[in-house]
Amino acid sequence: DRSIKIAPSILAADFAAFGAECEAVEGQGADWVHVDVMDGHFVPNITFGPQMCRALRPHIRGTMDVHLMIAPVDAYIDAFATAGADIITTHLEAGPHVHRTLQAVRAAGCKAGLALNPGTGIDALGHLLDDVDLVCVMTVNPGFGGQRFIQSQLAKIQALRAMIGDRPIHIEVDGGVDAVTAPLVARAGADVLVAGSAVFKGGSVADPTPYGTNIRAI
Ligand code: DX5
Ligand code: ZN
Repeated sequence: DRSIKIAPSILAADFAAFGAECEAVEGQGADWVHVDVMDGHFVPNITFGPQMCRALRPHIRGTMDVHLMIAPVDAYIDAFATAGADIITTHLEAGPHVHRTLQAVRAAGCKAGLALNPGTGIDALGHLLDDVDLVCVMTVNPGFGGQRFIQSQLAKIQALRAMIGDRPIHIEVDGGVDAVTAPLVARAGADVLVAGSAVFKGGSVADPTPYGTNIRAI
């Protein structure tokens, strides 16, 4: 299914009200809920772990899209799967045994995503196309919400779309996606748009909801 899906990132939501925030964005039409896990080691920020995913699970009817910005990662995969993740995305840069990591995610019963930092090329993916369900192109350096979209990544998205062809692999874009950049990444070939600030902190599109930008206007 290549229709455009919107995945609000709760990194930009009220940390004291995550359950209600998830329900609210789903009520507004969010397709997936994107959950950013950071370890203060792979990225220079710390968020939360599998216990938070477990607590959120009853508040998310649809897909829980868990983005693990942690290294090492393998030892934690089962914990996130058990906590109710539908998709677990790990980073290509998180360790030398990416293939093993992807196998472990699928063995745990989840869809396997692989994220690429802005400085990482798509070459290695050519050997992993049978092993991934989603590729996440980071359009900011991971660690913080509210950063500026890195334009050079549009060419990467296009090249990735050409490499993937008709395979059933989602192209997700994460970082600085708003009403201006969303059409650019969609045109380049992305089908899952993560958006934190644009959804929860208000964007350029006026909207009476507490979430600022109307999700569907992104
Ligand atoms: C960045 C995270 C993103 C981020 C997106 O490290 O992986 O999911 O929260 O937030 P915005 O949309 O504000 O760039
Ligand atoms: Zn993310």
